[in-house]
Amino acid sequence: SMTTSNHLRHVESLSILPSGAGKIPRLNAVILGEALASEEDDLVFPSQEFSQNALVSSPQKYLEMYRRSVEDPAGFWSDIASEFYWKGKWGKQVCSENFDVRKGRINIEWFKGGITNICYNCLDRNIESGNGDKIALLWEGNEPGCDGSLTYNQLLEKVCQLANYLKDAGVRKGDAVVIYLPMLMELPIAMLACARIGAVHSVVFAGFSAESLSQRIVDCKPKVILTCNAVMRGPKLINLKHIVDAALAESTQKGVAIDICLTYGNDLAMKREDTKWHEGRDIWWQDVIPKCGTTCPVEWVDAEDPLFLLYTSGSTGKPKGVLHTTGGYMVYTATTFKYAFDYKPIDVYWCTADCGWITGHSYVTYGPLLNGATVVVYEGAPNYPNAGRCWEIVDKFKVSIFYTAPTLVRSLMREADEHVTRYSRKSLRVLGSVGEPINPSAWRWFFNVVGDSRCPISDTWWQTETGGFLITPLPGAWPLKPGSATFPFFGVQPVIVDEKGSEIEGECSGYLCVRSSWPGAFRTLYGDHERYETAYFGAFPGYYFSGDGCSRDKDGYYWLTGRVDDVINVSGHRIGTAEVESALVSHPQCAEAAVVGVEHEVKGQGIYAFVTLVEGVPYSEDLRKSLVTTVRTQIGAFAAPDRIHWAPGLPKTRSGKIMRRILRKIASRQLDELGDTSTLADPGVVDQLITLADA
Ligand code: WT7
Repeated sequence: SMTTSNHLRHVESLSILPSGAGKIPRLNAVILGEALASEEDDLVFPSQEFSQNALVSSPQKYLEMYRRSVEDPAGFWSDIASEFYWKGKWGKQVCSENFDVRKGRINIEWFKGGITNICYNCLDRNIESGNGDKIALLWEGNEPGCDGSLTYNQLLEKVCQLANYLKDAGVRKGDAVVIYLPMLMELPIAMLACARIGAVHSVVFAGFSAESLSQRIVDCKPKVILTCNAVMRGPKLINLKHIVDAALAESTQKGVAIDICLTYGNDLAMKREDTKWHEGRDIWWQDVIPKCGTTCPVEWVDAEDPLFLLYTSGSTGKPKGVLHTTGGYMVYTATTFKYAFDYKPIDVYWCTADCGWITGHSYVTYGPLLNGATVVVYEGAPNYPNAGRCWEIVDKFKVSIFYTAPTLVRSLMREADEHVTRYSRKSLRVLGSVGEPINPSAWRWFFNVVGDSRCPISDTWWQTETGGFLITPLPGAWPLKPGSATFPFFGVQPVIVDEKGSEIEGECSGYLCVRSSWPGAFRTLYGDHERYETAYFGAFPGYYFSGDGCSRDKDGYYWLTGRVDDVINVSGHRIGTAEVESALVSHPQCAEAAVVGVEHEVKGQGIYAFVTLVEGVPYSEDLRKSLVTTVRTQIGAFAAPDRIHWAPGLPKTRSGKIMRRILRKIASRQLDELGDTSTLADPGVVDQLITLADA
């Protein structure tokens, strides 16, 4: 296609390639920053040694593979898929898709007819190839000194025991299981056990409130919920069972009752006898699982059978159940993990994400285990008991690949470098970043201080919906630019379009779309295929629309600039403004609310809420607190507004639509950029809001 060949031609002609390859990285960020005409001109090269040993060692090698991946996707991906175990081979068509709403129903299928099991490929396959005694999971508890591990053999036994229990409990292929667990080894064990028997897991991040949990339960109607009584996060005890009890009471009221609540007794956080118990429904994990058989036959499934559901935020109040299937997701997460981190079997890999988010699905559990990797699972907070904890863990386990979010980098960067430099970090080889754009200064600190100017950073751009990385560096191949996610992964054809949906070529900025599917793409929104089609394929017909803005520089590098829809990104967590608004207006004294994102030094974006109170209610500090509490209890602590702005009125068009563009400018105090306010029903409200902001 046009774009493909353009992309190829463009990168092939880059002037930086021959002279640049193999140069040593420049070290001094401050001098560097000053000397640059623009960020685009800052190139950080992998060392010659790194490149020589890398899986993809040069831009030329990347181009060769990339070309094949887009010119012959069927051949490219089926070669890779053949490295996995398939009980039965897929049909003639490796991929069949309709990506264009104008041509009918959106439909994506990869390896259809192929029969496999992702748990088998993560565990049994690696054991059969001789890695049974290799460590699969290295667990580090919240308290330093509290740890554990499981080899591939041991992990398989644990997974089989739980799988057998679930089967006895009546869970069958295609049934949903909700998992509400903190970062114990039981969390990946639970995911794998579901996958083994063909059940569809839906992990709910254990920071979500009872109401959010019950909303998800009501949507997917699980047979069983897997949880634990409590967890310590930093110095704080979180009573998860309490939240689950409330969620189950609420979902029962809404007609979805769960028969079994299998509860892991997390003795380090809370004694079992102190846990509130619902006889008949609640069952202690430790009472039943050790008695279950340690082998469990695999339920073989079609490549297109569902693997999991993961709820994420969109621009309406209702979370979307993103559905991923088995075969394509398996091949895609494994391949992206391997190449983006230049994974080698001796690596020790740590991703700080929680399995409650997509990053934990694809790059704590599936991608790494499919590669037979040793994975660190950390229960606690990254700055507990102090800002050096991450590097203590890196040294303790000799972590070689460290993957985290810019928000953590920025928060650690504010502390003395000594918290980093007092640890060796010699084991580190590759660093990774995910969740939001990483600002160049955080990038440089991560590179220079954490990585000792030695370790390439893979800034991976992707989404819950994409299953795996779409734009990412391959660390040995390309010179990096701090703040750029660089180039598309194999098989991915990014397209930048203008408001009209016309593709723009060359150096430009616009909306980031993707032309045609990749194996890891989500297949639908659970129970709402129509929303899937309109939300992702309706805006720019013919393309998948990511919801992100993006620019492409003169060298063809991609720079992600953040969401262009009503979704905000707080510490790498995606939050729909509409969800926060509906939580706020559920407060009896709140009449109306409008939420926007504002720049936040550590979180990336902060939540800024304009609130109109019910007639006659005076604004007070207590009311502010109570509004914030409402959001915490309805969504979760991570969605609590940073700022409440009292708004006697909101700027609306004559048809009643709130003009967020104006609110964003007021929230970020860019008052000279308010733009045209003449179309407002009552332009006076703007001045009112500005005055109140200063007060
Ligand atoms: C949104 C997806 C899948 C990763 C965890 C978040 C933003 C993600 C990057 C990056 C710039 C990024 C985008 C995207 N995002 N990674 N490397 N550079 N922006 O998953 O909750 O589905 O959110 O996160 O805005 O659309 P998610």
